[in-house]
Formats: sequence, C-alpha cells, structure tokens
Amino acid sequence: MHDISGTTGTTTTSVRVIDVSKSYPNGPDSVLALNHVSLALAPGSITAVMGPSGSGKSTLLNCIAGLESPDSGRIIIDGVDIAGLSRDGLTRFRRTHVGFVFQAYNLVDHLTVRENIRLPLLLAGTAPDLAWENFLLDAVGLGGMEDRLPAALSGGQAQRVAIVRALLTRPGVVFADEPTGALDSHTSDEVLEVFSTTAKAVGQTVVLVTHDASVAAAAEQVLFLTDGQWAGHLVSPSPAEITARVMELRK
Ligand SMILES: Nc1ncnc2c1ncn2[C@@H]1O[C@H](COP(=O)(O)OP(=O)(O)OP(=O)(O)O)[C@@H](O)[C@H]1O
Ligand SMILES: [Mg+2]
Repeated sequence: MHDISGTTGTTTTSVRVIDVSKSYPNGPDSVLALNHVSLALAPGSITAVMGPSGSGKSTLLNCIAGLESPDSGRIIIDGVDIAGLSRDGLTRFRRTHVGFVFQAYNLVDHLTVRENIRLPLLLAGTAPDLAWENFLLDAVGLGGMEDRLPAALSGGQAQRVAIVRALLTRPGVVFADEPTGALDSHTSDEVLEVFSTTAKAVGQTVVLVTHDASVAAAAEQVLFLTDGQWAGHLVSPSPAEITARVMELRK
C-alpha cells in the first residue's frame, strides 16, 4: 500500500441547503419533489438520506450537487452559493469540489479501469497523481485490474471503480445515490467500508442515499425524507433502530 501522508491533503467542505423547493411538470399539474428543505452538514461528516420511493432523495442530491437547479432556495458549498455561478463556472466548480457516485456506475465501456477513473481529471485539465491513484485503487481492492475493461468486472468491482473516480480529484464533498443498490449485502458492506474509510482519510463530506439499513448505519447521522420534507433524523443509529424508523414512516 502506498504512503498517502502528504498526498491526501485535508478537504473540509461544509454544505448548506436553505429552504430549497423543486417541482417537476406532470401533465397539466406539477409534482412538488422538494418542499422547503433545509440542511447544514459539518465538514467531514457522513450523512445517509433515507425515505420511500418518490420521496425526493435523488432530487435533493441532484440539486445539492448542481446537476439540477431548484425552483427556489439556496445551496452553499464551501461558502459558494452555486446558484450565483455561470453555467461554465458551475461545471468547473463541480469538477473541482464535488464527486458523484451513481447507482448505475456510469463507466465508459471502451475505456479501461485506469482511463475511466482519470476521466474527471482529464475534463478538469489536471495532471494525475499516480501515488494517490494507486493508493485508492489498492484501498478498494482494484490493484492489478487497472487495464481491464468494465465488461470484465463484477458489479462490486465496477462500483469501486466509480468510487475511485469520484474520490480521485479529492473533491471536498461526495454524493452517492444508492451506490450499493445493485450489490449483494456482503459486497455492499465492503464497498461502503472502503468508501467511508477513504472519505474519512481525506476529510470529505459525504451524503449518501440508501434503502439499506446496514449501509445507512455506517453514517454518523441518518435523515429521513417523506413527500419532499424532512421526517426526522437519527444520530449514530444501529441498523435495527433505522429499520424500526423506516417501518414507522411507512404507517
Ligand atoms: N425528471 C422528472 N420529471 C418529472 N417528475 C420527476 C422527475 N424526477 C423526479 N420526479 C418526481 O419527483 C418525485 C421525487 O423523485 P425522486 O427521484 O427524487 O425520488 P427518490 O426518493 O429518489 O425515489 P427512489 O427511491 O425511487 O429513487 C417523484 O414523485 C418523481 O416521480
Ligand atoms: Mg432516487
């Protein structure tokens, strides 16, 4: 394993969401996906967001990450109000400050593992840091698989590639939308472990959406969303406490 002292840096990024609402057109009507949601995340914290299907979890993540714009409210990352950025400015800000892990991995089929993880760096015009790259690949157990194409990877390995890709630029904040949704529970626990250990080492602020109580239990706090509004939270909960709360919310 590579020595990462001196290569990690400490990225401590705060996230603030202030009174954000977002609706989507739905035929003649509209769906209110987020209904006046506010949130403050301490730098370096790991937060899980849970809630029923359609409760607005993906919408919230996409808005905070600047992938969608809210109808109203403000999103402040690292002191920057992202609504105040130009389109290009937002793209640049996202590339340097924000990492995103999607459920469907979103790897490029004809690029190798190493080429896939370097894509965001290439887009940002940043030179790769080989020691950091190899550290992350080793940390997630992908050492030796750098030249493989995605088709030669298992689901768990593909998701680890997506995680390395999201962490490689050392973004201060990483969002993950059901990053383990396609994995079996053993693999998803392993991937989560790697994810949270690495994020902690870099001091990254992490927000992850999950339906899995054992995945959520890896977070310091779990926030519950129903119908686009907060419906309570738990601090350092056990999987059993999380499951109990999820059942309560379904009633
Ligand atoms: N692009 C869109 N166009 C129209 N409606 C949308 C769009 N995206 C989301 N919605 C609606 O907004 C609401 C919130 O959706 P969202 O995808 O945020 O839910 P979610 O909590 O992530 O659900 P899931 O657990 O199924 O992923 C839902 O009613 C959904 O149908
Ligand atoms: Mg979703």
